[in-house]
Amino acid sequence: MSLKSLFRTKSHERILADAEEGEHRMPRTLDAWHLTLLGIGAVIGAGIFVLTGHAAAAYAGPAITLSFVLSALACVFAALCYAEFASMIPVAGSAYTYSYATLGELFAWVIGWDLILEYLFGAATVSVGWSGYVVSFLHGFGVHLPAELCGAPFAYDHATGFALSGCWINLPAALVIMALTVMLTRGLRESANLNNIIVVVKVAVILLFIAFGLRHVNTGNWTPFIPENTTGKFGEYGWTGILRGAGVVFFAYIGFDAISTAAQEAKNPQRDMPRGILWSLAVCAALYMAVALVLTGIVHYSQLNVAYPMAVAMDAAGDSLRWLAPFIKFGAIAGLSSVILVLLMGQTRIFYSMAKDSLLPGRFAAIHPRFKTPAFSTRLTGVCATLIAALFPIDLLGEMVSIGALLAFMMVCAGILVMRRTKPDLPRPFRTPWVPVVPVLGIVFAGIQMVALPAGTWGRLVVWMALGVAIYFAYGRRRAAQALS
Ligand code: ALA
Repeated sequence: MSLKSLFRTKSHERILADAEEGEHRMPRTLDAWHLTLLGIGAVIGAGIFVLTGHAAAAYAGPAITLSFVLSALACVFAALCYAEFASMIPVAGSAYTYSYATLGELFAWVIGWDLILEYLFGAATVSVGWSGYVVSFLHGFGVHLPAELCGAPFAYDHATGFALSGCWINLPAALVIMALTVMLTRGLRESANLNNIIVVVKVAVILLFIAFGLRHVNTGNWTPFIPENTTGKFGEYGWTGILRGAGVVFFAYIGFDAISTAAQEAKNPQRDMPRGILWSLAVCAALYMAVALVLTGIVHYSQLNVAYPMAVAMDAAGDSLRWLAPFIKFGAIAGLSSVILVLLMGQTRIFYSMAKDSLLPGRFAAIHPRFKTPAFSTRLTGVCATLIAALFPIDLLGEMVSIGALLAFMMVCAGILVMRRTKPDLPRPFRTPWVPVVPVLGIVFAGIQMVALPAGTWGRLVVWMALGVAIYFAYGRRRAAQALS
């Protein structure tokens, strides 16, 4: 096998032809509206419902709103590149498939492997946030779940490393993954319908929060809007605090790219994929900025370092708004469920594409005769995500998800630069504007946010990727070469 074969690309024509191959086809049921809802379903989750309060309290103060603007800008550059690819190569594999078309087999494998961090680990991360909200929601009704069964047995601290937490298992997190896996195995149509209902619930809850909260804003809480950095340390308020805040709330935007994993189930992917990607990002960015403003207006940012910041703000607003807190918790529980659902689904579609390219065993692409879903990869994804959710804490997982997503964003932006050179004449129903400026900015912004993540996260990324490369050389490369010969 030659070195050249590592960088063998898959032609645009072959990718599209393979996608239409009868035996592995999935029904096309999703329109632009469904896709936008799918995007919102994947995006609004633990980021806004859990992480915003901590980021405001610890890093940026009321200027966390500006962190959301910054992070959204970074995502827009990547989203414009995703939109061009999704319109040009509307098949299921997202960044994996785009890399195969542009940078070659080895890069495609590396990105496919990396996307496991974003999707499979992402689903597990959000389920841990879900578990926290469920425990608190039930607590409000006098139901107290045993603490040992609701937390990860492993705790992690950047300074001291891993330790035992005293808990046995995060059972609610594991259970929600199992339930959603069963649902996904049974069919996307039903899952998409459930997703639509959930999206409506969570957007409604957020709008209620903004509308009712606005009347209780004390503008004094916004002054100073950018708290002064008095320690001189990077990230502790001031402008560097806004930067670090942007790195943390980046997690809140992850997911709009998940739409691109459903391209093969879209009715008119060329037209609707870019719409779905850009609309869902725009809607979420607008909601996030409004929530951040209202949240820091109702309560002083120093009081927001809590797991349920929006519910805490409702409590703080006084008796007239306390009734809203359980609704917010309920909306968060429903909302986080749909994030888990879409991320799990995205993972199975990426495995599906990799198996069709013979980089994974054929079973990963097998469609269940009755359910018409990739049942084997759905179940395997579910089992792995369940174990991760049951055992690990949210902060450790969240950082792995962010670094994995940022790496994928970089590769997609780089792919646009390559594709414009190598295939300038391919039909592009959607064109990224201002190339090369937009993709280059996408790479730079993603790079900055990656650099801001802790060294330990980098170490884990290197180990994970090294494992992936080893599997490629031991298995994927040979199998893909056999399939081609
Ligand atoms: N953006 C998703 C969330 O915040 C992953 O939960």
